Amino acid sequence: MSKFWWQDTIIYQVYLRSFNDSNNDGIGDINGVIERLDYLRDLGVDTLWISPHYDSPMDDNGYDVRDFYKVSPDYGTIEDFKNLLAEAHRRDMKIITDLVLNHTSDEHPWFEAAKDPNHPEHEKYHDFYIWQPPKYDKKGRRMRPTRWKSWFGGPVWEYNEATDEYYLHIFSKKMPDLNWRNETMRKELKAMIQWWIDLGVDGFRVDASNHLEKNWDFPDGHPGYENFSSLPKHHEYLEELGRELFRPHDLLVIGEAGGASREEALQYAGFDTTEFDMLIQFEHCWVDTDDTNTLTPGKWAKGTVDVTRIKKSFAHWLDVFKDNGWNTIYWHNHDQPRIVSHYGDDGAFHEESAKMLLYTLYMLPGTPIVYYGEEIGMTNVDYENLEDFRDVEVFTEYDNFISNGASHETAMQALRDRARDNARTPMQWNSDKYAGFSDVHPWIDVVGNKDSINVERQQSDSESILNQYKRILRLRREANIAHGHAEFYDLNDPQTFNYKITTNTHEFVVLANFKGTPLTMDIPVDLRAYSLYLSNMKTDAKRSEFKPYEARIYIKENN
Ligand code: GLC
Ligand code: CA
Repeated sequence: MSKFWWQDTIIYQVYLRSFNDSNNDGIGDINGVIERLDYLRDLGVDTLWISPHYDSPMDDNGYDVRDFYKVSPDYGTIEDFKNLLAEAHRRDMKIITDLVLNHTSDEHPWFEAAKDPNHPEHEKYHDFYIWQPPKYDKKGRRMRPTRWKSWFGGPVWEYNEATDEYYLHIFSKKMPDLNWRNETMRKELKAMIQWWIDLGVDGFRVDASNHLEKNWDFPDGHPGYENFSSLPKHHEYLEELGRELFRPHDLLVIGEAGGASREEALQYAGFDTTEFDMLIQFEHCWVDTDDTNTLTPGKWAKGTVDVTRIKKSFAHWLDVFKDNGWNTIYWHNHDQPRIVSHYGDDGAFHEESAKMLLYTLYMLPGTPIVYYGEEIGMTNVDYENLEDFRDVEVFTEYDNFISNGASHETAMQALRDRARDNARTPMQWNSDKYAGFSDVHPWIDVVGNKDSINVERQQSDSESILNQYKRILRLRREANIAHGHAEFYDLNDPQTFNYKITTNTHEFVVLANFKGTPLTMDIPVDLRAYSLYLSNMKTDAKRSEFKPYEARIYIKENN
């Protein structure tokens, strides 16, 4: 039934730095992942996506690569990495790694040569990056080439005195963008990718894959995102990688392209193109922004969750990839807040809402990506001080909020609600001082709720969030849900989340109250034909009253 192994897999994203610290230096590492492989196998996942493990000055936790061929000493050695591959493969598990192709670290030897006219290899490497001469205002003062804004908040241009030029960086200034029009540069990256394939990795998640091409006319504009996002030519580069590297091997390759249209998505990940196998696009990830907020604008402005947009997005993507490609389901990655804090309730209804979020997503067809800690309902941070945060993005944005007129407290609340650090805190294994992640103070603080929210505690409770995750992931395999057909009942209802899944053996109906207020539901099916399979609280299977966040899964055998 499946054309590819990855249609039947269940992926788990490991944020390496925060998952498990094996040598007690406060930083998660590769041996730490090996120590937890049995836990992950038992959870029911069989492919791990490991966030960047390369040598890096860690300006952006490894997305700033200094040496693509070296493992960061923070995380271990190449021997440890080979060992991870072997230990995973021995358990019938696969490892996919992050592939960062849009930029390097400014400490990468290529950039060191590119920025320095006296470097012996300056000529070769200068053109590996994107340079523009300064502009001058009427008073002769030096100006940036354009007013384009970086994804992390500041300008995209950084001045380099030695060449009297600016280089482009669409993320941090320590992450200069690579020039994909340069064929020698592409050759070097392709050799690097081949090297990791030969080492035995099972696939890649291609970072920032829709940004590889830029508008080389450099028109002015603010924020100017259209000049470095989804330009048609980037497909040529991806298609070249697919043809030469990805397709000839039996890999899983996942692209990252925020805001992709239907046509674009099919071009990336349709069955008959040669770019990716799956796509991450984030459409459902920020359906609670408050567009009237000018103090902490954009993704930072927390508003009310628009449930209709989540359902419509899920329905849309199922439709896009129906027959022509393959759907991917996930609540979020390492760049968005924790889902239970974001779309659920991390207070009074923590457990109920975490399970509701489990049922509403993971009964859908496609390949799931579970984010580490989600399986126990880990929450956003409770940090009091700006210094508790670690993400490079936080500090530029904090300054922006203050200059927009926000108070310190308003700015801090926006960070606690929306910063990427929310999803990067140490995995809560038990209630020890550092949550069993490490014996020493970790690189980023543990969230204060580790005594009540941790793996050890949930393992011994058969109805815990963790054990319900296990149950649903097992059910996905037994009932072949990945290949099922989904039908939503209530796309326009602002509170319910109701759908039916038909597989070759079963029919399932999910009925859920997505909000923290009670609800009398207009039940869309005749419940007498079904039995209750799972619920997130004690309930009467036939009742049409739903308590806050109440959710149920019903089952019927197909004859
Ligand atoms: C992607 C990553 C993000 C990183 C950025 C730059 O969006 O998911 O974490 O900061 O690319 O590499
Ligand atoms: Ca360590």
